Amino acid sequence: MVRVIENSVIGVRTPSAVYDVEIGEGLLNGVGARLDALLEGGLRAGRQRAFLVTSPEIDRLWGGRLESGFQNLGFPGLTRLLVPAGEEHKRLITVERLAEELAQLGADRDSVLIALGGGVLGDLTGFLAAIYMRGIRYVGVPTTLLAQVDSSLGGKTGVNLAAGKNLAGAFHHPMAVYADTATLATLPAAELRAGLQEAVKAGIIRDRTLFEFLENHRDAVLAGSPEALTRAVAASVRVKAEVVSADEREGGLRMILNLGHTLGHAIEAATEYQQLLHGEAVAWGMIAAVRLGARRGTVTGAEAERMERTIRAYGPLRGFTAEAEQLVALTARDKKNRSGTRSFVLPVGIGDAVVVKNLTEAELLQAAQAVAMEAKGVSA
Ligand SMILES: NC(=O)c1ccc[n+]([C@@H]2O[C@H](COP(=O)([O-])OP(=O)(O)OC[C@H]3O[C@@H](n4cnc5c(N)ncnc54)[C@H](O)[C@@H]3O)[C@@H](O)[C@H]2O)c1
Ligand SMILES: [Zn+2]
Repeated sequence: MVRVIENSVIGVRTPSAVYDVEIGEGLLNGVGARLDALLEGGLRAGRQRAFLVTSPEIDRLWGGRLESGFQNLGFPGLTRLLVPAGEEHKRLITVERLAEELAQLGADRDSVLIALGGGVLGDLTGFLAAIYMRGIRYVGVPTTLLAQVDSSLGGKTGVNLAAGKNLAGAFHHPMAVYADTATLATLPAAELRAGLQEAVKAGIIRDRTLFEFLENHRDAVLAGSPEALTRAVAASVRVKAEVVSADEREGGLRMILNLGHTLGHAIEAATEYQQLLHGEAVAWGMIAAVRLGARRGTVTGAEAERMERTIRAYGPLRGFTAEAEQLVALTARDKKNRSGTRSFVLPVGIGDAVVVKNLTEAELLQAAQAVAMEAKGVSA
């Protein structure tokens, strides 16, 4: 039987950039034709060159599929710039090395980079594109769930410093994003589950239908059903695209995307990024936020229970070891805090959220203690 799942195309419309995110199963070998069309035939005419930035692993798994689409257009093959997998390579020195390679390969202002991989590859490639010759264009081809629903759109690019994550970077939007949900088939199960926590987050803060879909179709989603994944990714992308389009530079609304992230970032920092995946830390943070919402009355007890159950359904949540006091102290350093006030995102019912500025240290400590205690009891 031929199964036809329609692709979704979702627009990002910000003051500095307008582009589409296309989501579909099997998109990969159509990227070449789409990119050439975006460049008005510039690739085929030889006016422009495309460079593929990826890791050796992703190249082996999916590079050929992407490249075959370019070969269909008559190109001999894609020039590759390879970066080893891993967060430790998301550093300025990698960007410098890649920029030197681009220069040696003769890349010019009209060249286009293709970022094939997870969030690390995307952040690195976007930043490389932001600075090479003061800015060239790039497209995202995200291959992790987290990158498809979150990091590939919104324009934040950058690298880590020894002093902290994502401390050097630039706003630089891609000219398009192509999310092929078929690539998720090779993703380790833990990475898929962790990324899905960002989809759960999107549902909680802005899309009740998405939340209920994730609540009711967990088995199909976790089994990697292409229909279920495509639907979950598309709905999550729509939430982020709408929020970023309304508030590109995080002046207000964009902060709601940080649900679960205040404590989540603190948990990651306290455990030196060694114990949990990002989405797992965010899941613990969301559980704390949901409970705080119930205490403050922004959600009912029944809604809080449903949200917590769904977050856990995309677990298992692995444990971590950190003191609640340390977590609270680390939230004070979170870069989302402006002028000393602590901003904290609380759910409002299911499908809405609010940023509160008056959360007390005592409230936060109590919430952090509950998750820290539970997490200590769970074997990592
Ligand atoms: N720019 C943003 O707005 C934004 C938002 C959220 C996160 N981020 C960044 O994203 C990064 C995390 O991204 P991530 O979770 O995608 O991690 P990642 O890029 O490290 O990928 C996770 C692992 O999966 C592998 N992988 C990727 N695709 C695969 C596939 N299809 N099959 C098999 N293996 C595959 C990678 O090689 C890697 O080992 C962090 O650096 C974070 O700071 C950025
Ligand atoms: Zn996140």
